[in-house]
Amino acid sequence: MSIEDELQATINDLVHANKGILAADESAPTIAKRFAAVDVQSTEDSRREYRSLIFATPDLGKHISGVILYEETLGQLSLDDIPIPKLLENQGIVPGIKVDAGKGPLVNAPGDEITYGLDGLATRLEHYKALGARFAKWRSVFHISDVQPSYQAIASNAEVLARYAADCQALGIVPIVEPEVLIDGDHSITRAAEVSEEVLRSVFGALHRHHVRCEWMVLKPSMVTPGKGAGKATPKQIAEATLRVFRRVVPAAVPGIMFLSGGQSPEESTANLNALNSMGTQPWELSFSYGRALQGPAQKAWAGERSNEEKAQAALIKRARLNGLARSGSYSPKLENEN
Ligand code: 13P
Repeated sequence: MSIEDELQATINDLVHANKGILAADESAPTIAKRFAAVDVQSTEDSRREYRSLIFATPDLGKHISGVILYEETLGQLSLDDIPIPKLLENQGIVPGIKVDAGKGPLVNAPGDEITYGLDGLATRLEHYKALGARFAKWRSVFHISDVQPSYQAIASNAEVLARYAADCQALGIVPIVEPEVLIDGDHSITRAAEVSEEVLRSVFGALHRHHVRCEWMVLKPSMVTPGKGAGKATPKQIAEATLRVFRRVVPAAVPGIMFLSGGQSPEESTANLNALNSMGTQPWELSFSYGRALQGPAQKAWAGERSNEEKAQAALIKRARLNGLARSGSYSPKLENEN
């Protein structure tokens, strides 16, 4: 298969009506935080047990088209000794991999951050592909304050995202481009819209500069919401603000916009996605690539006990199914009360 055919086949499998992505690529420090919240110690064994059991959820592939893995998990065997990427393929799910190496301070831009991991990336991508990964993810974050994000933070993260995406496409791996505008702070939805527009303009400018083909990438952005400390907006207000920005700056050639949940509750993120998909026809598929919003209830139900396997799987499939309904605007909060 040519590189182009390979990229197109992955897009066809990933950007699928009524399905979205499960982001299960928490780094070791992040998963340790999530496990601590349910009183579980994060060890290689506990991470393997938890991830094996959620990926084995019966019918997961009905609502989930792809799973983003962390490097450790990509090379692991499930509890039944099946390589994890193979377990996902058996469910009809495309395995993917987080490839950035985390983030740290951006020098001369107090409070802003830059994402690491470009050095040696092509070699790592070849290795991940050999293990079964067909798509990748790179996350850059943008803080909002009166003066942030700085011009340097926007321009340098956009450049790095574009160079990562170009490396992926050259090797037949679909890049998920994730510029996360953080929800932390007490900014208004108007300020969030202003920053999101600036960031996305810069990201698409850089993608263009590096000849990244929009047809063979997925955008994973934040929804446009008020800051966490600023009170709530309704799903309709969020959908309107988000689409206003995205219609200005995201090329119609991008096949899918798959949102992160970014600290919204499971119910909020489903209601907001539903509102986005209730606003008429858009140039792109509007879907989900949620981490916390899909896994939070499953982690609570699991609580580190193998005997809770079925309860954890039921909690995950419920969120996956409801988000699947939100893909077509068919979700209603009333469905939360049904099992
Ligand atoms: P959340 O949905 O928990 O924000 O995670 C998505 C993700 O992959 C962040 O990089």
